[in-house]
Amino acid sequence: MAPSCANNQPWRMIAVDAPETLAAVKAALSRGNYWAAPSPLIVAFATRADLDCQIPDGREYALFGCGLAAMNLMIQATEIGLIAHPIAGYRQAEVKAALGVPEDYTIITLVIIGHPANDMSGLSEKHQAAEVSQRDRRPIESVVAWNGFDLGDREML
Ligand SMILES: Cc1cc2nc3c(=O)[nH]c(=O)nc-3n(C[C@H](O)[C@H](O)[C@H](O)COP(=O)(O)O)c2cc1C
Repeated sequence: MAPSCANNQPWRMIAVDAPETLAAVKAALSRGNYWAAPSPLIVAFATRADLDCQIPDGREYALFGCGLAAMNLMIQATEIGLIAHPIAGYRQAEVKAALGVPEDYTIITLVIIGHPANDMSGLSEKHQAAEVSQRDRRPIESVVAWNGFDLGDREML
């Protein structure tokens, strides 16, 4: 139910749960995404620029639409008690081949979905620490301006 430019709904989601296909997708993940190995479900988000508004001043909305849909999926997954984590760390050509996604599409993210686990022994020290540390974001003043773009000297706060 994500909104999209002119209701074009540019997102194409490929949900992957078949063991062989899942293994092929996991084989295309970057090494740093080793933690995704136990996931029983991965959703690939694919789109093409011409599936959504392309405004002559340079704005292209297909990827934006995918982002909105992916966030909705992650919120809903979280709501029903799952963990959902988007990644960019994968070899796109291999994922396309595993899923039969045509060359002219972009797979903009994979959302890794799983059940929360208590056992963190499979995680690196860094990832174990991240599981229990506070989530970190830039200070709000460095990303929000009121009534004009005067973020210049605050960008790097
Ligand atoms: C487009 C995108 C790509 C990402 N790629 C990866 C990734 O490949 N591996 C990973 O572990 N996390 C990935 N993340 C998750 C971010 O690293 C994470 O959201 C950020 O560090 C903030 O952490 P938090 O969301 O847990 O607060 C990605 C997030 C986005 C939105």
